[in-house]
Amino acid sequence: MDMLIIRGGIPLAGNVRLAGAKNASLPIMAASIAVSGLSQLRRVPHLADVSTLTQVLESLGAVVTRDLSTGELAISPPHATTGIADYDLVRRMRASVCVLGPLLARWGKAVVSLPGGCNIGHRPIDLHLKGLVALGARIRIERGYVHAEATRLHGAEIYLGGPFGSTVTGTANIMTAASLARGMTRISAAACEPEIVDLGNYLNAAGARITGHGTPVIEIEGVDELHGVEHEVIPDRIEAGTMMIAAAATCGDVFIEDAQPRHLSAVIDILRQIGVSIEPSSTNDGRMGLHISGAAHLNPADCTALPYPGVPTDLQAQLTALLCLVPGISVITDKVFPDRFMHVPELLRMGAQIRREGASAIIAGPAHLSGTNVMASDLRASAALVIAALAAEGESVIRRVYHLDRGYEKHDEKLRQLGAQIQRTTDHPEALPDSLRMTGESSMEQHKVQEIPGRFTQPIQNPLAKPHFLSDGYAIARPMVSQSDDSSGPVADL
Ligand code: EPZ
Repeated sequence: MDMLIIRGGIPLAGNVRLAGAKNASLPIMAASIAVSGLSQLRRVPHLADVSTLTQVLESLGAVVTRDLSTGELAISPPHATTGIADYDLVRRMRASVCVLGPLLARWGKAVVSLPGGCNIGHRPIDLHLKGLVALGARIRIERGYVHAEATRLHGAEIYLGGPFGSTVTGTANIMTAASLARGMTRISAAACEPEIVDLGNYLNAAGARITGHGTPVIEIEGVDELHGVEHEVIPDRIEAGTMMIAAAATCGDVFIEDAQPRHLSAVIDILRQIGVSIEPSSTNDGRMGLHISGAAHLNPADCTALPYPGVPTDLQAQLTALLCLVPGISVITDKVFPDRFMHVPELLRMGAQIRREGASAIIAGPAHLSGTNVMASDLRASAALVIAALAAEGESVIRRVYHLDRGYEKHDEKLRQLGAQIQRTTDHPEALPDSLRMTGESSMEQHKVQEIPGRFTQPIQNPLAKPHFLSDGYAIARPMVSQSDDSSGPVADL
């Protein structure tokens, strides 16, 4: 298992090129099961999740060939299939559930494991199943598997809105299935993400008749068959957002090649509010993108993650890390995954001041982040910890970076290209930098970072402090604070 060692405090600078979008590639690869010809896909990112879905498709009888140098991936659909997507593969990656609709539509049967628990919160698939039943599927859940059958799906009127708004992979599953259903389907409260538009464009290129993809109302006139197709996947807007935030957090100067402003309007808006300069720009050879330059003085912000076109929940953790560095009180709320705050305890370990309140995190800044050992818990939390480490004083070690590799192609290499001091190594005590080796005295020394003269000499007037009880019990992890500030104890306990 790998870990990353990062020495912080270096402004990122230079050009970086985006990979293809993970969240477009996965539903498109799953949809290829419903296509009766070869799918030739370009710009598919080299990610662990893509490899897992490749295994799912191969277990269903497809033949997948990949050219890592060009990012091309070709999928020949199965001649016959069991229709079974087993637990061991689906539990590794929830998006595997996207094979359900395509299998049903093309093969009339599917047995797909229910996706298990997830670190970012409760993630049912009831809307997926509701939509497939509306299209005429017979579905039962048995021993943790969805068993679905249908002679031929038929068109339907489907409302896909849920308690947290639309569902992205739910829309992908239903839109693909309806492409081969008899008659018209109308999906309302559909997800509008650019990845759904990309899937709709792929299916239309294969002969589907889809309109309205990218809007809350999608109409699909079913066809009898989808034919072989070539398609280039869109650039990854979440990778773009992550790089934009990393540039801002390190006061850097970065050009992100292929970043599409129209996919990032809410992200550009909130970063400009924070004080980051963002301008469309191009390279000498005409490649378009966004130029990001951080500012010494940033403004606090009140930000809410929402379904597209709102600020993506997949950038909430990274924005939380950035706002820790900003003077004043910021609030970040996640209205898509209200419990998606696994990054907070680790940011606290680096010296951040955050208090959780329901679906929000209240952040007091500027925090003086200092390097330490932290643990990644999920894909975007790991990206947030990398950003915090790039902005922190000293060295950080980030463990369980397999989470990062699930969704970012060569992330550490790209950051090195931008001047970051970042090293990937095997997770072994011997590999730990001296500054983070826990040897008796040194652990106390290390923890005293909080008391850098002049920074914490006067009591922390902590606007976040709850007068008489701790929230979420985080405070206990930061006993050092009480040594340096006033005796009001709980006040300083976040
Ligand atoms: C997609 O997940 C993305 N994954 C997620 O990105 C992203 O966070 C999410 O959309 C929201 O933007 C892929 O595209 C592969 P949802 P998905 O169904 O489709 C609730 C990343 O980091 N809901 O849109 O699984 C659900 O619990 C990943 O790259 C139901 O209640 O998300 C959530 O609160 C993480 N019932 C909300 O809707 C359902 O049947 C949105 O979920 C389905 C969802």
